[in-house]
This record gives sequence, C-alpha cells and structure tokens, in this order.
Amino acid sequence: MRVAIFGLGVVGLSLACVLGIKRYSVIGIDSDRNKVSKIRTGMSPFYEPKLDNMLRLALKKSLEISTDCNVAVKKCDLIFITVGTPQSEKGNINFEQLKRVAEEIGIALSKTHNSPTIIVKSTVTPRVTQDIVKPILEKKSNKKTGTGFGLLFNPTFIREGSAIDDTIKPHVNVIGGYDSKSIRVLEKFCHELYKKTPVIITNYQTAELIKYANNSFLAAKLGLINEIANICQSLPGTNVDDVVKAIGLDPRIGNLFLKAGPGYGGSCLPKDIPALISFSSSIGKNPIILKAIHRSNTFQVKSVISLIENAIKKIDDKKITILGLSFKEQSDEIRESVSIKLINLLLKKGARLTVHDPSAIENVRMLFGNKIRYAISIKDALKQSQCAVIMTPWKEYSHITNKDLCLMKKRMIIDTRRLLDAPNLDAEYHAIGIG
Ligand SMILES: NC(=O)c1ccc[n+]([C@@H]2O[C@H](COP(=O)([O-])OP(=O)(O)OC[C@H]3O[C@@H](n4cnc5c(N)ncnc54)[C@H](O)[C@@H]3O)[C@@H](O)[C@H]2O)c1
Repeated sequence: MRVAIFGLGVVGLSLACVLGIKRYSVIGIDSDRNKVSKIRTGMSPFYEPKLDNMLRLALKKSLEISTDCNVAVKKCDLIFITVGTPQSEKGNINFEQLKRVAEEIGIALSKTHNSPTIIVKSTVTPRVTQDIVKPILEKKSNKKTGTGFGLLFNPTFIREGSAIDDTIKPHVNVIGGYDSKSIRVLEKFCHELYKKTPVIITNYQTAELIKYANNSFLAAKLGLINEIANICQSLPGTNVDDVVKAIGLDPRIGNLFLKAGPGYGGSCLPKDIPALISFSSSIGKNPIILKAIHRSNTFQVKSVISLIENAIKKIDDKKITILGLSFKEQSDEIRESVSIKLINLLLKKGARLTVHDPSAIENVRMLFGNKIRYAISIKDALKQSQCAVIMTPWKEYSHITNKDLCLMKKRMIIDTRRLLDAPNLDAEYHAIGIG
C-alpha cells in the first residue's frame, strides 16, 4: 500500500512516521520548504516526545519527504489530507489550506490514470468534505468521486504530547463516506494497522460532527472542573483535587480530563468550540452550553490574575516569573496557550516579566522579542522575583525546593496546577482550586 500525507504538522508527521516505521511506502508532502528541509535531516520542526527518533528510523526505512504533489498523487493508493484548519477572525474555520491542497491534488489527478482514495483527516465542520473538498477535487481533476477517485473523512483524535502513542493506538477509527469501495479500502487499512481498534462507519457529516462532539465533551469536562475549582477557592479549606478523586470514581464521570487549571489552550479545543458554535448558528441553532463553555474558558485566565492581584496587590513594576509557556507539558505548542494570554495581560498592567519553559522558549521569543526576559533555568527564573506563577504542569516545576525559593526577592507562589506541596513550602502559597 503506497500512502501520501499532505501537511506535516503534528498530525501528518506523526502518521507519516508511524507508517514509515511499519514499512508502508510513505510520501510526506508539505508546502513549507523550510519545514521539509528540516524534516529531511531527521529533525522534527516542533517538539513532540518520541517523534525525532521515529522520524530518523522512518526515513531510514520507507518514508520519503517531498514538496512534489504530482508524484504523490500519481503513485499512491491512499492520500491523507492533514493540513491546518485554523480559526478565522469570525470564529469559524479558515478553509484556505484545505481548499489549496484540494486544488493541488485535483490538478495532479487530472494528469494521471491513478484513482487513489483521498482521506480528509483535518478537523472540519459538517458538510465541508461534501460541499467544499469534493467540488474542488471534481472540478480540478475533471473526474467524478467514486470512479476517478475515492473521498472519505477520517478524523484524528491524537493529543499533542502523546501524538506518537495515540497515532499507534487510537481509541477509535471513524470512517465517513458514501462510496463503499473506498470505505472498504480504508477499513482494511485500519484493521491491518490498528488490529482491534473499533471502526465506526458512517457518512461524511456524521463523521465530521463526531470529532466536534468529542472535543465538546472534553471541553465541557475541563470547563466544569475549572468552575468547581473556582468555587473551592472561595471556600476556605476546600481542595479541588479531593473533589476530583471522589467524582472521578463515579464511572459515569471518569477521572480523565478533570485537571483544574488556568483554562484549556492549544491548537484544538479553543478553535473547535467556536467553530461548532458558529456552525450551529449557521443552521439556526443556539448552542447555549457550548457558548457557556467557551465563555468560561476565556475568563479562566482572570482567576489567575485575581490570585496574583490578591497576593501582591499592585502588579505595576513588579518582577513576576511565569513558569511554563506551552499549553501543556511535553509540548512546545503555544497556539492559544493561556500563558501567552497571561503575559499580554500582565504586560498591559506594567509587570516586568521573566519566563521559563523547558521547550517553548524560542516560540515565545518570536512573539514577544525583548519585551520580556527569557530564563535559562528555573533558578535563573526565580532570581529576584517577587511572585512566581506556575502555569504548565511540567514535571520540573514539581521539584522546586525551598532552596530555589530562597533566590526570590519575595517568596510568593501562584500555583495554577497545584504541583507544589504547600505545607512544606517556605513561601506564601496560592493555588487555583484550593480555598
Ligand atoms: N494538533 C493536534 O493535536 C490535532 C489533534 C486532532 C486534530 N487536529 C486537526 O488536524 C489538522 C492538522 O493539525 P496540525 O496541528 O497537524 O496542523 P499544523 O497547522 O501544525 O500543520 C499543518 C501543515 O500543513 C502544511 N500545509 C498547508 N498547506 C499545505 C499544502 N497545500 N500542501 C502541503 N502541506 C500544506 C503546513 O505547512 C503545515 O506544516 C487540523 O485540522 C487540526 O484541527 C489536530
């Protein structure tokens, strides 16, 4: 089976590496030449655990990296589309990458007798495969879906920070489409690759909605536990982690995705919830709960600001340290990271900021330049600080000791993830979710 993957972000590159290691003949295509050059040398353009090793191995085996769309479309049986579908200014999806890639694949299809199965894996709102991708492919190729090529939608559920493991072992494979021949091709591929992972077969729009339904439930869990955490904070002696231990044992709730914090970020939930809200409005629905989840998440950063203001009173001219910049640990992803929102808010209030992160520093430097100081170690970050805010639950931060805190000008900790052991800490300690 020859496979092409268009778009080498975390989704596409992880898939390319996993398939390459398993000796599928894979061509990974990206339009960004700098990215392609870096990937060809065996280095991932972003940090993702296990990816660099996998990439080097896959390149030695059967992964080829290219910018040449024509060769991929001519040679391959399966073509996965994993380009970005970012948020537009209005909140809905920006389809430009998707339209462009469909045009390129369509034109390449017009020049070959090959009839591959094309699989949209990017997250798209219901009817996009049918109403946007299909007409472009048909127009540019001058061929019909079902005869000239197959077209399916197959969402991805990976998490940044564990993208490789999730790609190797997804919890489900959803195949959306109408043409039974292509569905059989992808179903067989999924069974070969993922063995016992359940496969759900449905039509395009249901498959597209499944991805959004999935992310809506995850966002709801996070939104609810953050709200409970905010209640705990106003109730002296209450601890949200004890609440979670108990409710997590109720099998109807489960204990995953119940980590209270400064709000969710990253490249998926913050854009997917507004996209579903916008889509629902476009079909005459008023998604009250989704709107509330989105609003409550947008405001959660204010809880961090309140904790800081309650602790140090005036922010203006204070030396504040932010520990953790990526939206989650084991990632250098700063898209929609709450730390970035916090930096902007604190700068507006006149704070003097020092930031630290084990892997996202360079991405943040590109945004803020010399407006903030970039620490080379946790100790360096704490030196002379008047308040340290732990934002991302990197393991390194849970090892901060009283000796490290001695470096601070004022020992004041705001722990949005409850990583530190408050009773043994020689510092004033405030945490999200602890009253
Ligand atoms: N990041 C995640 O954890 C995750 C999880 C589930 C679903 N998704 C969805 O998967 C999709 C991809 O996400 P991502 O984070 O990997 O995206 P990304 O934005 O990080 O990467 C997309 C890549 O596509 C490339 N590209 C754009 N146009 C192209 C073209 N015409 N031809 C070839 N390459 C092109 C870009 O250069 C970029 O490298 C999105 O729809 C996203 O919502 C992402």
